[in-house]
Amino acid sequence: MRKKIVAANWKMNKIAAEARSYIESLLVELGEATDVEVVLIPPFTLLPLCSQMLGESPSVRLGAQNMHPAKSGAFTGEISASMLRDLYARYVVVGHSERRQLFGESDGFVGEKVRAAHDASLRPILCVGETLGERTAGHVEQVIDRQLGAGLHGVDAKEMGETVIAYEPIWAIGTGHNATPEQAQAVHAHIREVIASLYAAPVAERVRIQYGGSVKPDNAAELLRQPDIDGALVGGASLDPRSFAAIVHAAREAKG
Ligand code: PGA
Repeated sequence: MRKKIVAANWKMNKIAAEARSYIESLLVELGEATDVEVVLIPPFTLLPLCSQMLGESPSVRLGAQNMHPAKSGAFTGEISASMLRDLYARYVVVGHSERRQLFGESDGFVGEKVRAAHDASLRPILCVGETLGERTAGHVEQVIDRQLGAGLHGVDAKEMGETVIAYEPIWAIGTGHNATPEQAQAVHAHIREVIASLYAAPVAERVRIQYGGSVKPDNAAELLRQPDIDGALVGGASLDPRSFAAIVHAAREAKG
């Protein structure tokens, strides 16, 4: 049984005072239950505050939105995996489509980050997904296979079990048009098959695959009930603690 994982990607939003009141409300909304893994992914600047506020909270983990694959060095403006570990981050988003499209990150560079994250004992959330044009042209599986092949290069079976994949169709991100549960399930099942062929079926059975792209309280339950959808990576709807908590609650109901 895979434990569902629901993550709040704040992107470039919120300052300290907003983060403080958000976390206060979120912890009340979520209560003590630990049946769903919740990951808060604030901008780098808020990681220390968030880790301090979450303290020993059993139910919420911390993640970062990006990292550089090098251990250290002359990379002005960049942040390394060990710096993130130092701030108690457990997860790191790698290869988000905004990084790929707006900042020109290649499949190979994304793969280097996945490798470097594991080397620092950070769990990568590797994002994959197609554009609308690629979907219309019937190239979804081809794009996913390419992104997975490069993204998982050099990752061994044990590390694979600790990697989270996020399927985020680019046409669904921030648009209000989520993939239908059937569309998402079909790609998730395909991703699991690819992992089974790259590793082994038991490894693929362990890997959690999140869906991301306009997840909201009113569509989360149906998406999260699909057999291969093991969680959600939430952008816009994660900015409000009540709406994010409602999505976590939907994951709780959908488990099992
Ligand atoms: P969205 O973003 O929920 O605002 O569509 C999802 C994401 O980019 O992770």
